[in-house]
Amino acid sequence: MPYAKTGGLADVVGALARELRSMGHEVRAFMPLYAAVRRAYPDLQPVPAVEAVPMMIGSTEYRFSLKSAHPPGADPLIYLVDCPALFDRSSFYTNDPDDHRRFLLFTRAAMESCRYLEFAPDVFHCNDWHTAFLPMYLKTVYAPAAFFSRSRSVMTIHNIGYQGIMPAAAAPDIGSATVVSQLDPADLALGVINALKTGIKFADRVTTVSPTYAREICEAPLGMGLQSVLRTRREAVLGILNGVDYLEWDPRHDPHLTVHFNPKDLRGKLANKQRLMAANDLKIDACRPIVSMVTRLAEQKGIDLLFDSLPLVLQERDFGFVVLGSGDSRYADFFEGLAGRFPGRVAFHSGFDESMAHLIEAGSDIFLMPSRYEPCGLNQMYSLRYGTIPVVRNTGGLGDSVQHYDPRSGIGTGCVFTDFDSPAVRWALNTVLDWFADPQSWRRLMRNAMAQDFSWKRQAQLYEALYEDVRHRA
Ligand code: ADP
Ligand code: GLC
Repeated sequence: MPYAKTGGLADVVGALARELRSMGHEVRAFMPLYAAVRRAYPDLQPVPAVEAVPMMIGSTEYRFSLKSAHPPGADPLIYLVDCPALFDRSSFYTNDPDDHRRFLLFTRAAMESCRYLEFAPDVFHCNDWHTAFLPMYLKTVYAPAAFFSRSRSVMTIHNIGYQGIMPAAAAPDIGSATVVSQLDPADLALGVINALKTGIKFADRVTTVSPTYAREICEAPLGMGLQSVLRTRREAVLGILNGVDYLEWDPRHDPHLTVHFNPKDLRGKLANKQRLMAANDLKIDACRPIVSMVTRLAEQKGIDLLFDSLPLVLQERDFGFVVLGSGDSRYADFFEGLAGRFPGRVAFHSGFDESMAHLIEAGSDIFLMPSRYEPCGLNQMYSLRYGTIPVVRNTGGLGDSVQHYDPRSGIGTGCVFTDFDSPAVRWALNTVLDWFADPQSWRRLMRNAMAQDFSWKRQAQLYEALYEDVRHRA
């Protein structure tokens, strides 16, 4: 179970670290000690070597300590950077004016902690803009010292839509004049500093979370302004599809479910469907399909496409619809309105609810992801395992993990549409509902889906090969 989660990053980092550990690597993961984590895990252990360490960010002095968590089994060691002045906030991510300082301190604290712990990793694996100054620090601030001379960096982009853009006035917080001189001069002239761009420039290798997204971000529009810098490093950019943590996400033993099922015995799926309907006040006949979504309510997720198409399909066809999500009120209002308009058929479960996410995967028939862009996406891969047929837009990792079903040949695992418009979603929903109407064909499709294997075992080997490669770089 992740310590802190708002989306897929938590699932991915936790599972990859565990897999690498089980392959025999020494893995130590750093994360901020957010207030919610402190409340949920009161028994975190202090790390005596790293207590109340002073650290200047610009002209402000902070103090941080390290706490550690030893998750059960052979899971990797997790270090939590404790700095209440920066992390005791009501949410993990904020738009507070000192947001950049929160993650600058986190990044530098992780590096300093390694020194206190006398642990010089072969590879620092940085995830997203929050840690993106590390590769530059390694090659500037820490370059003269022998301690990290053999350490290399990998920068993984989970979502290029979040770049950590801060005002140029933040430059003194980032470091000395020598360090600042390494930042992109054109950006500085425009009055900004871009954390992710800095990471892309300085990391020994850059990865993202699917092969298709790796290609997409090298071009406009999906590069979102970073396409040129990515193209200059094209040789260093690699796409590795995320894996699935099947200890958490498998209907055979999902810890959040009371009734389990498998491809040979699907009776448990119906039991979960009934629980899902009861929990969300859905009054449809249980033999009618349930279409679902579990999503951050963000522009990325393509919810705009549903504004016109979904009410139409709900009028035309007989099915239930359930969505679990939190985020932008524009989308919450839409789903709330829809639930009011189609009582007993549409349910909106607002908020973040891990158990409900699992019940939705288990109890619904069809899972909708009409994303505008999707670096990888995890729910479509989870859905496949639960025999919940994904309907996805052909972008990023969605196209890399779902194959459009052909009822004649019986080959394929879901429904894939391409155009980013309402008619395309309407077509996709009608198509999948037609497939559902043929029980024999649908069972075949479910079997195909459930037979897919996106385990981390294979994907972690790709990271292992990448680490080997960077380790030998000068
Ligand atoms: P992203 O990271 O862009 O949000 P992913 O598909 O990679 O998209 O991962 C989303 C993860 O977050 C999945 O594990 C999904 O179940 C979970 N999730 C998203 N929204 C919610 C929510 N409101 N409640 C519970 N889990 C959620
Ligand atoms: C991001 C992306 C998502 C990806 C996840 C984990 O949040 O939006 O597509 O699966 O990171 O890599």
